[in-house]
Amino acid sequence: MNIDLRSDTVTLPTPGMLEAMTRAQVGDDVFGEDPTVKALETKLARMFGKDDGIFCPSGTMTNQIAIRLHTQPGDEVICHGQSHVYRYEGGGIAVNSHASVRLVEGNRGRLTADDVKKNINNAEDVHCPRTRLVCLEDTFNRGGGAIYQFEEIKKIKSVCEQFGLSLHLDGARVFNALVETGANYVDYAKPFDTISICLSKGLGAPVGSVLIGSSAHIKQARRLRKVLGGGMRQAGYLAAACMYALDNHIDRLKDDHRRAKIIEKIAQESSFVDEVFPVETNIVIFRLNPSVTTSAFLSHLKQSNILAMPFGPSLIRMVTHLGITDDMLDVLKKNFRWQN
Ligand SMILES: Cc1ncc(COP(=O)(O)O)c(C=O)c1O
Repeated sequence: MNIDLRSDTVTLPTPGMLEAMTRAQVGDDVFGEDPTVKALETKLARMFGKDDGIFCPSGTMTNQIAIRLHTQPGDEVICHGQSHVYRYEGGGIAVNSHASVRLVEGNRGRLTADDVKKNINNAEDVHCPRTRLVCLEDTFNRGGGAIYQFEEIKKIKSVCEQFGLSLHLDGARVFNALVETGANYVDYAKPFDTISICLSKGLGAPVGSVLIGSSAHIKQARRLRKVLGGGMRQAGYLAAACMYALDNHIDRLKDDHRRAKIIEKIAQESSFVDEVFPVETNIVIFRLNPSVTTSAFLSHLKQSNILAMPFGPSLIRMVTHLGITDDMLDVLKKNFRWQN
């Protein structure tokens, strides 16, 4: 039995998903002729009350296109210092948008309206980059899948409106947040100018992210996607997997969250774990005490075919997803030991 807890990106298509993919109606999407891609874009845009959407190969691409849409070279983006757009997109903000970043440290990845306000540059001061965009991430990966309070998002939006800033959401795991809070999708989406949604994380599709926003933004995004080499041809086979994921895999995210809570408890009860980040969704991050190194503990787990991710000095991340069962957690519990 292989127990791969490294990420929710490691899932394989289910038989139902594979069948949906093989039955997909497809066409050349660069010509705008793939009906399944169009249906996916429209479906997600409608679900969140936006005008339109654009299907891209990755969440990195949807984030990078959004940042490019909202900024001009030399502008500044406010984001958390541990955010995916900053830490894990290869310096894309600099490469693709020629923009500067203002990094903010918030509570497990979550910025407050005050944080945002304090970090906006004086637009009249020619020495400073012009602040143009705020990027939030919900749930927040490096914060252990932490969920934003919607009231805080609304306050951040007010600050953005007051200072003429755009607001983008990296919603790679937005459905993990929404199944927990039970928020209405359209209400939740209102404050954001653009949202990047990944289908290839907890939802279990093999590939694909959709950027949603206004018609004008998505029209411009089509040009930017082409420039980045993200125009795909018979992408409907992939979009069909994403449609299947939306129809079948949203509610089951709650199972992933329940299982993450089980892992949280296993870690809390272990003498060699110093700290477990509070688990809110499907990500568990814990800190080992100095008696054990991450590499030694990961090698120990690997002997029982359990894979987890090193996540910084002394930190380990485990992520639940549709490939993880209760039986696997029993095996994890048995092997979650350490002896010097
Ligand atoms: C929060 C977050 N945003 C964006 C991405 C980027 O997604 P992709 O790997 O599809 O580029 C990831 C990937 O893990 C992520 O965790």
